[in-house]
Amino acid sequence: MALTGIKVGVENQDIEIILIYYFNFEKFYQLHFSFQYKNSLTFAQLLHNVSFLNGMRIEENYLLKGFNTFGLNSIAKGFVRVDTEAELQELPELLTKFNSYLILGGGSNVLLPDFFDGLVVHINMQKLHSRESGNEVLVNVGAGMNWHEFVKWTVDQNYGGIENLALIPGKTGAAPIQNIGAYGVEMKDVLVCLKAFHLDTGKFQVYNHEACEMKYRDSVFKNRLMGKVIIADMWIKLTHRDHQLNLTYGALKNYLEDKGIESPVIRDVFESVIEIRQSKLPDPAVIGNAGSFFKNPVVPCSKADLIMEKHPDLVFYPIDDQQVKIPAGWLIEQCGFKGKYNGQVGCFEKQALVLVNIGSAKAAELVAHAAEVQSAVYAEFGLMLEPEVNIIHPHLYGGKLNLSSVQ
Ligand code: FAD
Ligand code: EPU
Repeated sequence: MALTGIKVGVENQDIEIILIYYFNFEKFYQLHFSFQYKNSLTFAQLLHNVSFLNGMRIEENYLLKGFNTFGLNSIAKGFVRVDTEAELQELPELLTKFNSYLILGGGSNVLLPDFFDGLVVHINMQKLHSRESGNEVLVNVGAGMNWHEFVKWTVDQNYGGIENLALIPGKTGAAPIQNIGAYGVEMKDVLVCLKAFHLDTGKFQVYNHEACEMKYRDSVFKNRLMGKVIIADMWIKLTHRDHQLNLTYGALKNYLEDKGIESPVIRDVFESVIEIRQSKLPDPAVIGNAGSFFKNPVVPCSKADLIMEKHPDLVFYPIDDQQVKIPAGWLIEQCGFKGKYNGQVGCFEKQALVLVNIGSAKAAELVAHAAEVQSAVYAEFGLMLEPEVNIIHPHLYGGKLNLSSVQ
């Protein structure tokens, strides 16, 4: 056995006392003793072993605090980082050694359990190529690329199409999963096709736009294929001349007008979206959150008419002749939750739809608060809010659970 390193450091409120690496002939271990003021991690959870299987580095009892934007002190039984397609192909065998698994990008749309009894597979494949043709450009991007950095790169190249999707946290590979959307643009507006790795067959398959079945905050990957495939990379189509800016979102249009920008270019939209978002959404680096906790309900017009009998000031947006979308943030605010805290969790004061962790909350506190909000909105409006955030069960691949089943 040999000692290879010792470190003492202080980070936020967590005091790291000592970090020791040692190895013997079979394994490479990392013992990570930590003392933290405001949580109850046990010594066993902090015993952090590292082993190698088919060249892949598996970390045991891995702290996921830096891998979820709620900032929860969740622990994974195992953690592996995938950097290449060759490593993806090692996964089917690796997964047989664990009870369960979870595919994780940036962790900005998950609510993790205190302990995940399986292997967390962190997707980190980096790739970026583009091919211009006429007014258009096809961009091939790897699933592990940071989404906002990617959007910034497209704006720097003067490629148009995703500037409205600036500052959305997470990795590119997760973008098609819930068909990310903001300020009038959705992933489905630019996605041409993607390549996914099937964990059951060990083969890659290309999904064209139609096969991805992308709808509002939904796709085939959140339903039939949830947890069965890993998105490896994708092709998106942007413009590199004659850009068609999307200024349909009222708040964006008004913001540009207020700034006196009459003929905006891509960069104006990109910068305005960043400024609007910073004015109302909490920065996960400062306050734990996963963006909108619930989806905005889409209801028949008749249901909106019924609600308006009691709430004539109801806010809604037409989807088509038959349906309207109601902002869940408005519903939650009407129920008195905006800026209200229950211990360390609450609904953000500038955007009620964003549930926040203002300290070192546990998953159960967030789930209980979300359930309380859900019940109150149901009691007042007869609408059952559906979580947008993927609530991960301690033992099973999660995401489709309803709140009552996880309490
Ligand atoms: P993760 O949270 O790691 O994963 C999300 C889901 O996708 C999980 O089920 C995971 O298993 C699965 N997954 C991840 N990567 C892969 C892969 N490569 N293959 C297969 N499955 C995978 N979302 C919006 O749509 N619009 C917004 O405006 C928006 N604003 C946000 C603002 C804030 C402050 C925050 C914190 C979140 C916001 N979100 C928004 C939600 C979130 O950023 C997006 O859903 C984002 O795409 C999640 O990316 P991620 O890499 O963090 O995914
Ligand atoms: N509103 C309130 N009170 C609130 C919040 C909102 O009354 O506390 C009402 C206001 O009338 C406001 C309207 O809701 O005008 C819409 O609010 P906002 O523009 O902030 O958008 P949202 O509907 O709350 C959606 C997405 C966001 C996305 C923005 C911008 C969902 C679930 N959320 O929020 O996505 O960034 O539009 O396009 O669709 C996310 O998915 O994580 C996310 C942040």
